[in-house]
Amino acid sequence: MKQPAVDFIAHKRDGGAHSSAEIHDWIQSYMREEVADYQMSAWLMATFIQGMNPQEAHALFEAMLDSGSRLDLPSVSLPKVDKHSTGGVGDKTSLILSPLLASCGVAVPMVSGRGLGHTGGTLDKLEAIPGFNVQLTNEQFEAQLAELGCAMMGQTAALAPADKRLYALRDVTATVPFIPFIAASIMSKKLAEGIDALVLDVKTGSGAFMQAESDARHLAEVLVELGEAAGCTTHALLTDMDAPLGRKIGNWLEIEESVDLLRGGGPPDTREVTLALAEEMLLLARPALNQPQARDVLTRALTDGSAYQKWLDLVRAQGGDPTVFDAYANGDTPHQCATTTLYHDKDNAYVTRIDARALGAGVVQLGGGRARASDDVDPGVGIVLHIAVGDPVERGQALATIHHQDGVAIPSILSDRAWLDCAQEPLPPTSRVRARYTKEGWS
Ligand code: URA
Repeated sequence: MKQPAVDFIAHKRDGGAHSSAEIHDWIQSYMREEVADYQMSAWLMATFIQGMNPQEAHALFEAMLDSGSRLDLPSVSLPKVDKHSTGGVGDKTSLILSPLLASCGVAVPMVSGRGLGHTGGTLDKLEAIPGFNVQLTNEQFEAQLAELGCAMMGQTAALAPADKRLYALRDVTATVPFIPFIAASIMSKKLAEGIDALVLDVKTGSGAFMQAESDARHLAEVLVELGEAAGCTTHALLTDMDAPLGRKIGNWLEIEESVDLLRGGGPPDTREVTLALAEEMLLLARPALNQPQARDVLTRALTDGSAYQKWLDLVRAQGGDPTVFDAYANGDTPHQCATTTLYHDKDNAYVTRIDARALGAGVVQLGGGRARASDDVDPGVGIVLHIAVGDPVERGQALATIHHQDGVAIPSILSDRAWLDCAQEPLPPTSRVRARYTKEGWS
C-alpha cells in the first residue's frame, strides 16, 4: 500500500475523494492481505456515509474487475448472454432463464452469488439440490457451456475475487444498499464472464435494496453505462419487488417453483417477469427475431419440455440428483421440515400488500439465510404463500405455510401477520415489469 491504510480510511471519513490510482492500489493491497478485513469494513462504512463521485465509482468497478481474470470461452460458438438481478425475495428467475435460453440456442455463462441480507442467492438455492456442485473450474465451466449452452457457478478465485470478499463484508456491516458498491459488485462479476450482452433485472419496492423507484432507476442507469462503456451491450428492466416473486420463498421451495415454470406452469407473476427477461436476452442474442417471434420461441420451449430437459441435463452435469424432481411431482421432498399454517384472523377483504422484506427477513430468521458470512443456510425452511396481491381473503382462510425446523418457534415477523395488508376494495391489476432502460433511454 503506497500510503498507510489508516490515512486512506481517514481521508474518506473526512469527506475526501480518492484518485483512480489510489482506489486500484487500495483494492490490490486488500487482495494481497496488506489491508485487513476490519480496515476494509471501516472504509466501506466511511464511503457509504460520505459517498463516491462517478470517477471513484468507475475506478472501483475497474479495480474489482481487474482483481481477477476474464473468461475467454473460445470454444463456445453460440452468442453468450447473461442476466443478473439486483436481489429480491422469491426471485428464482435465474434458475429458469439459464436452461430456458440454452434450450433456445443461447449460451448463458452464469456466475451467481449467495444470499445477501434479506434476499436469497442463486448458489444457495442450487445447493438445495442434493449433490449439485457450484464450484467449477474455468475449464469445466467452459466445457459444459460448449456442450449444453448453460453452466451455473459461484465466483472462482480467478473471477472478480475482490467482489467475493467485499460482498461478504458488506452483507454483515450494513453497507449493501449503496449504488456504487452494488454497481461495481454486479458489473465486475458479470463482465468477467466473457459475455456478449447482459440483461439486468433492477428491483424496486420493499424487498429490493433500492426501495425507492427513483434510486432503482438511477442504479439501472449506472449499471447500463458501466456495461456499455466496457463494450458489453447492456439492457435493464425495472421490476416490482414490493411483494415476493411467486408463491414460494426459501432455497429448496424456490427450486420447486422453478421446476413448475420449466414444466410450463408456475405462478403468473413469476412467469411474467421470467418471460420479459428471457425475451430481452433472446432478442440480444438473435436480433433477426421480432418480439412476438421471440415470445413464441420461449413459450414453446416451456411447454414442449425442451427447457425442462435442459434443466435436467444441467443438474446432471453439475453432479445433482435429478430424481428429486420426480419425487417432488409425487409430493415428496429431500428436505423434510415441520410445517405451521397461518390463518387470516380479520374480516373478509382483498389483499393489497404482501411485504417482501418482512417475509425475506423471516426466512433468514428461520435459518434460510445468513446472519454472519460464515453461517450455513438451511435448504428446507421457507414460506409457501396461499394468497397473492389482489386476491379476496376470508376470516379463517390459510395465508401461508411456514416450513421450519421441528421445535423452532415461528419468528414474530411472520406470525404477527404485519406483512399483510387488506382493504375492502381490490387494487387494479398491475404489471410487475415497470420500465426498460437501454443506452437509448427509458421506455
Ligand atoms: N447483487 C450483487 O451481485 N451485488 C450486490 O451488491 C447486490 C446485489
